[in-house]
This record gives sequence, structure tokens and C-alpha cells, in this order.
Amino acid sequence: MLLGLSTWPEVEHYLDDNTGIIVPVGSTEQHGPTGFLGTDFITATAIAEKCGEQTNCLVAPPITVGMAQHHMGFPGTITLRPGTYINVIVDWITSLSKHGFQRIYFINGHGGNIAPTITAFNEFYASVSLHPETKQSSTLCKLVNWWTMPGTDALIKDIFGEADGAHATASEIAITQYLHPDSIKPAPDDLEPAKTGSPALDIHNAYDFRRRFADGRIGSDVRKANPKDGEIIFNKAVREIAEDCSSFIRS
Ligand code: NI
Repeated sequence: MLLGLSTWPEVEHYLDDNTGIIVPVGSTEQHGPTGFLGTDFITATAIAEKCGEQTNCLVAPPITVGMAQHHMGFPGTITLRPGTYINVIVDWITSLSKHGFQRIYFINGHGGNIAPTITAFNEFYASVSLHPETKQSSTLCKLVNWWTMPGTDALIKDIFGEADGAHATASEIAITQYLHPDSIKPAPDDLEPAKTGSPALDIHNAYDFRRRFADGRIGSDVRKANPKDGEIIFNKAVREIAEDCSSFIRS
């Protein structure tokens, strides 16, 4: 059930028995010479919608622009500043919480969203904790990144090993190829190996990123991406996240 295709009476009825909602969150940013700018919201949204079907949980519209300042050296990238992003997430949580949603499950497709999403959760919790009049609020939030789910991560390592890389990964591009086979951009055979690096340690500003990772990839061999492996990884992520989501919304 998708919030965007529901009416308000349907949502009111849903809330009689269910207080869970899934929110896909991604980014619009460069994904190397062959990856779609929408990669992160395309993967998160498709996984979220399938998880919604499997758990009978309502799925909110996707947040398609995230915190991606470090990708601004590449045309097409759109970013929110960290503070703006945090405010967006807090306002989504506050709006949903006001209607009675008590378990808000964010399925994320973009590494740059992790830190500000956790900060946003704490901003929301602080507004509850610091105001005695809201002490009844029992809304809890959870963030999962599809590629760091333990079983999905192990499967990705099995299939691609080190060639998966750390940005514009073979696995995320493979999933988008599975979801949008008519839009696949083939990688040239003479593509140079990507520079390696760690997003956790090596991300500064957009100029520095482009200087060090000239075509946008970090460590990924995108020639290995293919729709068949994309389907296998997608299905694994859906199974694993649906199970986790189910136990969270019943917690
Ligand atoms: Ni990505």
C-alpha cells in the first residue's frame, strides 16, 4: 500500500490496526560514468515498495534528494545542506507521528545520509524528551542501509568481491540495471580502474572529491554490473529488510 496512492480515509482506517510506515530515502547524485543519477533513490524506493508488499506496511513517497555535497563537482547532482536535510527528516517524522504512526522505518540508499539521519532522529527524540507535555509520544525510528544488511553485504562480497568498490558500486548499478533494463549504459571495455578510497575517511568537499576520483567512482569495477546479479541482490535485500522491518514495526 502506497501512501501516495491512498486517500486520507484509507490512511485513517490503516491507522486503526497499524502504526508502521516505511520511508525510502536516497539521493540524486553522480554514480560514475555509467550509473544513473537516481541510483540511490531508485534502489531504496524499489526495495521499500517490495518490503511494503511483503509486510503489509504502508510506504511513504521517497525522499529523492539527500545530503550529497561531496558529489557537487559532477553535473546533475542535487544536494541538501546537512542542516536542511536534518530539518526535512525531522519534519517528516513529526508529521507522521502526529497522525499516529509510531514505528517509522527508513530504508536508505545513500551513505551520505547516514550521519544526518541519525542526528535527525535524535533531534526528534530530544523534542520529546525535553518537553514534558509530549512524554506520551512513543514514536520510534529506525534506519537501515540496504547494502549493509549482513546477508546482503555477504552476498555482494561473494558476487563481486573487491570489485564492488565504495561508490557507484557494481551492486547498486546492477540493481538499477535489473529495474530499468532499457536504460542500461554499457561500460566501455577500456574503462580505467577506479581509484580506491574509503568514503568514511576520504570525503571532504566536492572539488577534492573530483580531483581524487576523476570519473566519480570509488574502487568499483562497473563492467561487472549486470541485471541478473542485480535481481539476486535485490531479492536478498528485500527478504532481509522485510524481516527486520516486520519485527521493528511489531516491537
Ligand atoms: Ni549510491
